[in-house]
Amino acid sequence: MKKIKVGIIGMGYIGESHIEAVRRIGCCELYAVADVNAELAKKKADYYGVQKCYSSVEELLNDPEIDAVHNCTPNFLHLSINKKIIESGKHLLSEKPLCMNYEEAAELVELKKKYPDSVAAVNFNYRLNPMVQETKNRITDGAIGDVRVITGSYQQDWLLYDTDYSWRLEPEVAGNSCAIADIGSHWMDAIQHVTGHTITEVMADVKTVIPVRKKPKQQTETFTSNVPTEYDEVEVKNEEYGAVLFHTDKGATGVYHVSEVAAGHGCYFNFEINGSEATLKWNQEENDRLWMGIRDGDNRLIIRDPNSISSGARPYTALAMGHPEGWNDAFKGNIYAFYKYIEDGCKGEPVFSTLEEAAYIVKLTEAVIESSREKKWISL
Ligand SMILES: NC(=O)c1ccc[n+]([C@@H]2O[C@H](COP(=O)([O-])OP(=O)(O)OC[C@H]3O[C@@H](n4cnc5c(N)ncnc54)[C@H](O)[C@@H]3O)[C@@H](O)[C@H]2O)c1
Repeated sequence: MKKIKVGIIGMGYIGESHIEAVRRIGCCELYAVADVNAELAKKKADYYGVQKCYSSVEELLNDPEIDAVHNCTPNFLHLSINKKIIESGKHLLSEKPLCMNYEEAAELVELKKKYPDSVAAVNFNYRLNPMVQETKNRITDGAIGDVRVITGSYQQDWLLYDTDYSWRLEPEVAGNSCAIADIGSHWMDAIQHVTGHTITEVMADVKTVIPVRKKPKQQTETFTSNVPTEYDEVEVKNEEYGAVLFHTDKGATGVYHVSEVAAGHGCYFNFEINGSEATLKWNQEENDRLWMGIRDGDNRLIIRDPNSISSGARPYTALAMGHPEGWNDAFKGNIYAFYKYIEDGCKGEPVFSTLEEAAYIVKLTEAVIESSREKKWISL
């Protein structure tokens, strides 16, 4: 069977993870990369031995060999570049958040309806961690009873000091949210995916923890902790912290918080789901383990094992038990799910996030920011 030829736009921090993931999947082939920074695009193409290298979106989209395109550019470019990809008739895998605001996201959802022959997805990669899929399958099979209470957090520390800076803090590049859009979006997506519940009401408190930061005069790489020697002091408008109370359409209640100023945390994404019969608890930093809490019996630690994992989670894990898999493997899992869906003729419910689901996450993000500003519950 002919391999699906892939082009990746944006060779920054996450673009490289996309390259590595695509390279590990049999039914697709990494064919081209592009970046507006031509030197960077060439460097990455040479390093990874990529056949074609472009310095504009248009050049890459005009290449008739390419079947699918990943958009790994900053948020403010998601609407315009995703639109061009959809209109080219090629498959689209966009980075999250889908757009800067819900109006833009709804425009993409509408546009996509005119191009039913291609597939569009958004890269909410935590869904495809095998133990997140395990959580989903166990909840669907009734292992914890009715979902009642959902709690958790996503904590990082890459914005801890006033010398840390990112375009994610700038509303004109990132949208009107930093932490909620950047990492809260992942948390809300994963929770809705595993529980089958939809968050319908939010009450939030978000905070700009460091109101003035030192913005480097020279652009630096994303997530590096180099202290700039030359900088401008700039006022920060987006939040690095947020706490959100929420209700779901099926009667569950919950609370989560996100922080990008939590010293010592690199990627502490965690959740605990209390059902009427048992609890499931998971933490990305120890991602091979899923804890099951049982009141009238022994609590259990379920260790990822391809031999015993549920059939639904099995395609997304490869290494034998005791051989730790990690963030990159789960990331590959999401991209594998996208290409497998295309290869299999787009049958059934996709396990990856659709444009509609990702547009709803943008709506939720807006509601969280509005709730904090207005100091009241917001219903969706
Ligand atoms: N799924 C995840 O876990 C995850 C993790 C990190 C980032 N992201 C998302 O990925 C996106 C990119 O984030 P990043 O951290 O890689 O940013 P980055 O700033 O490191 O990289 C962005 C790249 O896009 C390039 N670019 C800018 N304008 C362009 C254009 N017009 N055409 C082609 N290339 C262009 C830049 O030169 C840069 O190399 C964001 O939307 C972010 O939210 C997702």
